[in-house]
Amino acid sequence: MDLSNHKYKREAWNSRLGFIMAASGSAVGLGNIWKFPYIVGQNGGGAFVLVYIFCTLAVGLPIMLSEFTIGRKTKLNPVGAFQALKPNSHWVKVGYMGVLAGFLILSFYGVVGGWTLAYVIKALTHTMTTFSSSNEAGEFFGTFISNTWEVLFYQALFMGICVGIVLRGVQGGIEKACKVLMPTLVVILVILMFRALTLPGAIDGVEFYLKPDFSKIGPQTILIALGQAFFSLSLGMGCMLTYGSYLSDQENLASATVYVVIFDTMIALLVGMVIFPAVFAMGLEPTEGPSLVFSVLPAVFFDMPFGNIVSIIFFTLLAIAAITSGISLLEVVVAYFIDQRKWSREKAVLITSAVIFAFGVPSSLSFGILSDVKLFGMTFFDHVDNIASNYLLPLGGMLTAIFIGWIWGTKNAEEEIKKNKTNPQWINIWRFLICYISPVAVFFVFCAKFI
Ligand code: PFF
Repeated sequence: MDLSNHKYKREAWNSRLGFIMAASGSAVGLGNIWKFPYIVGQNGGGAFVLVYIFCTLAVGLPIMLSEFTIGRKTKLNPVGAFQALKPNSHWVKVGYMGVLAGFLILSFYGVVGGWTLAYVIKALTHTMTTFSSSNEAGEFFGTFISNTWEVLFYQALFMGICVGIVLRGVQGGIEKACKVLMPTLVVILVILMFRALTLPGAIDGVEFYLKPDFSKIGPQTILIALGQAFFSLSLGMGCMLTYGSYLSDQENLASATVYVVIFDTMIALLVGMVIFPAVFAMGLEPTEGPSLVFSVLPAVFFDMPFGNIVSIIFFTLLAIAAITSGISLLEVVVAYFIDQRKWSREKAVLITSAVIFAFGVPSSLSFGILSDVKLFGMTFFDHVDNIASNYLLPLGGMLTAIFIGWIWGTKNAEEEIKKNKTNPQWINIWRFLICYISPVAVFFVFCAKFI
């Protein structure tokens, strides 16, 4: 049965590799390079890493396969997909929630994405070569993010790059860009790791990173790890669903899921292998928090042989990762307007990106002229990040798991997964995880949050 009901030919990935690169590009982003290291640093290193890997495998992986399955079955955006599988029900709201989450996340993701571009340019023009301490680098960062016009300019530049790629469509834009950018990212990461691990004293960082200290693990750690797994794997908002909707029926969904999850996790782990050895080698603290990458690392680079070149390469890596994720966020919103509202791709991309940029302006200014405008002690940026990342994504993920496990049913889903005549060995484990473990785990996280 074709549920898509399209009058026009839907776009599709050109190759299996292209799809895996694009989905990995979505997953690998600021979440891996900016968030993961500082969260590990604040939560005791190796022990947190183990909990994170467990959450990824037990909750993230089954939900990703579910999203790919719904997407490929319906060949539609999140709203259209839930509507097609359960017409005239409240489930369509899960789709709307996803599109809203895409809108909200991109509005602040574009701000941080802009910072990464700014740092590439500042590194290229040697504007940040004089930091002898992380305090100085921190001050520089603070001055930069409070400069109204500069941050808005870079936020607009970041959105402009995403627009340029998404305008060219799924195959000619997203797939092509990711096929070039993702291998580049891996090469850069390996070069950086080599540099970091050969620094004197790097071994202390490796030890901090890899040696688990289980006394640091509590309910709070599991909560943070699960939230991070959702964000990092781009789950809970129909992003993987949308990317799955451009897949052909010949594709092996289960193996594609495994590749994307392994890729995303490997990159996060490798990034830790760059940052912690470098931070420890330079005698700095890994517990700095969100500014770890922007204010501790420039100081690390300053002290390091070939530091300026390393800093150019590092921030390029960060910018690439942010762009390939930014385009996936934009594509979710764009696909909704193309499928459901019958807009042309051009109209959908230009209008939605302009609105997302405008909505992101107060987030951009949350570190400058709006830094004192707070509600419940949080800035506009904090609220948007909090609502989308800590509520909409886990809620969307939990509802997707319930939908697959109990509403649309694992029988239908398995039929779709096995369509290309494969029979994944772990399908029974998947069925158990998606019915019982994923929804219960997220529910537990929500309860823990409110208690
Ligand atoms: N996975 C991205 C990261 O780790 O930075 C962020 C993200 C992209 C979240 C796309 C959600 C999404 F749909």
